[in-house]
Amino acid sequence: MDRDAAKQAAAEAAAQLVDDGMWLGLGSGSTTAYVLEFLGRRIQDEGLNVQGVPTSFATERRAQAHGIPLTSLDDAPTLDLALDGADEVDDAFRLIKGGGGAHAREKVVAHQSERFVVVVDPTKEVDRLGTRSPVPVEVLPMAATPVMQTLDELGAAPTLRTADAKDGPVVTDQGLWIVDAHFSDGIDAPANLDRALNDRPGVLDHGLFLDMATDVLVGHPDGAVAHRSAT
Ligand code: A5P
Repeated sequence: MDRDAAKQAAAEAAAQLVDDGMWLGLGSGSTTAYVLEFLGRRIQDEGLNVQGVPTSFATERRAQAHGIPLTSLDDAPTLDLALDGADEVDDAFRLIKGGGGAHAREKVVAHQSERFVVVVDPTKEVDRLGTRSPVPVEVLPMAATPVMQTLDELGAAPTLRTADAKDGPVVTDQGLWIVDAHFSDGIDAPANLDRALNDRPGVLDHGLFLDMATDVLVGHPDGAVAHRSAT
C-alpha cells in the first residue's frame, strides 16, 4: 500500500475542516506534517486567520516553516479543533499514540479542544488495541525501573526506548524517558490499564487515549477518505 498517498488524502481532508478564526491544536508525527503542509497552503491561498498550539518542538518548527501562526494554552486555553495522527485506532475511537514520543503534550492539547480529529492511513485501524504498537509511557528517569516492574505486573513486556543517533535513552521534549509497554496479545481492558498508569507515581502520561477522539479520518491511497464521527 502507498501509505504516504493515504496519509496525504486524510491530511488534506483534515485541513479542510479548519474554519477562519479557529484556535487549533497541532499534533505531531508524519501524518500531521502533511496536515500542516495543507493548512499552510490554505492560509496562503485563502488568507485564513487561525492560530495553532503545537504539541512538540518538531511541530513548532514545521508550523513556522508553513507560515502557521502559533500560540499557547496560556493565551488559548480552549481550542476549537485539534488535528493529530495515531499509531492505532479501534472501532470505539480509542487510540494508542506516542510513536514519536509527543503523547503527553498531545493529550493535554486534545483535552482542551472542543473537537479532536484523528488522521490516519488504513494500517492504523485495529480490532484490538495493543496488537500493532506498544503503549508508550513517559517516566521520570529515576522511576524508570519501578515503573517497568509495574508494567511487567500488568502483563506487558516493557522496554526503555533508546535513541538511534545517540547512545542511551530517547529524551522527550520534557527531558523525560519513554518506556514502551508491549502486549503480545493486545490489551484486555484498556480502561483498567489507563487507570493503573494514571495512578502510578513517576509516570507523566501514557499513550492510551480513551474517550477523547470525536472524529476519525481514514485516508486511502486512491484519494478516498472515510470520515467517522462519534456524534
Ligand atoms: C507522536 O508522538 C504520535 O502520537 C503520532 O501522532 C503518532 O505516532 C502517529 O504518527 P505518524 O503519523 O507518523 O504515524
